[in-house]
Amino acid sequence: MRPIVVGVSLFTLSAGMAEAAGKLSLYCAAQEEWCQVMARGFEDATGIDVDMTRKSSGETFAQIKAEASNPKGDIWWGGTGDPHLQAAEEGLTEPYVSPMRAELHPWAISQAESAGDRTIGIYSGALGFGYNKDLLAANGLPEPKCWEDLTKPEFKGQIQIANPNSSGTAYTTLATMIQLFGEDGGFDYMKRLHANVNQYTKSGSAPIKAAGQGETTVGIVFMHDAVAQAVAGFPIVTVAPCEGTGYEIGSMSIIAGARNLEEAKQFYDWALTAEAQNLALEVNAFQVPSNKAAQTSDKAPDLATIKLIDYDFKKYGSSDERKRLLAKWDSDVSTLPQ
Ligand code: G6P
Repeated sequence: MRPIVVGVSLFTLSAGMAEAAGKLSLYCAAQEEWCQVMARGFEDATGIDVDMTRKSSGETFAQIKAEASNPKGDIWWGGTGDPHLQAAEEGLTEPYVSPMRAELHPWAISQAESAGDRTIGIYSGALGFGYNKDLLAANGLPEPKCWEDLTKPEFKGQIQIANPNSSGTAYTTLATMIQLFGEDGGFDYMKRLHANVNQYTKSGSAPIKAAGQGETTVGIVFMHDAVAQAVAGFPIVTVAPCEGTGYEIGSMSIIAGARNLEEAKQFYDWALTAEAQNLALEVNAFQVPSNKAAQTSDKAPDLATIKLIDYDFKKYGSSDERKRLLAKWDSDVSTLPQ
């Protein structure tokens, strides 16, 4: 009898261990390389198997909403905060108060507090633009320093930005223009910009990658994405626009109805540690981390020296406002001739 009992218990033990290691479906809306390093870092730290999908912020929001009756993702890490706030308001994400909260900057916690603890800040970064200095010179264009410069006729066909429906970066741009110039002025700006846009991309950082490759002169992106291209050796100059600019609080949320809720919470706590946030430095992600003890690269744009607006996350992350502004951009801006 004895050998049989031993055999059975060994089998039970190994099956139990496999189950204990678990799995996690991660929806990631930061840059691909950072998503990869976060997925692998968590696997190494816990043995939990991570299935990672990278999409832009607006696309991830839409996917989570479409899957709400049968959720396939467990945790949404990264991407701009506005769609995370909208998901929170629509009950698509789960409240969670992490024991790691005490280690975070106040801006990360206020994001959580304004969303009934359904989301939290993981990084921040300022919006701006970057340009390819070689192409600028070749086209005989003046150095753009301000948002307004990008609407000048000589920049026709020289500018790339993402579509605000799919991209959090581009939605942040739309909301920033409204906060800088008022709703009419902001839409007027987006219309004048539209006349100069050569392509609306799906992903927010694609325009500056295209500028690095010499496919467009200017890319409207988060400043840290422009710095990353310069650090990678491309002839990109990063600009903090003279009128002032908006910023993001990159966020993280647990998906309501997550099948692997315990693993999602483990990822959440781990992703807030300084150690996990320092992985950003391995992949040239120059955002400002939310853990006070995490390192900010000396190449990261210094938010203290940039003229930042007091971005109203509550308003621009609200479900009604985000839907209304995107519908208005679709009907009033995207349909105009170029
Ligand atoms: C890039 C930036 C992130 C930002 C993200 C939004 O990855 O580095 O800081 O959160 O874009 O992506 P999206 O494609 O939604 O604009």
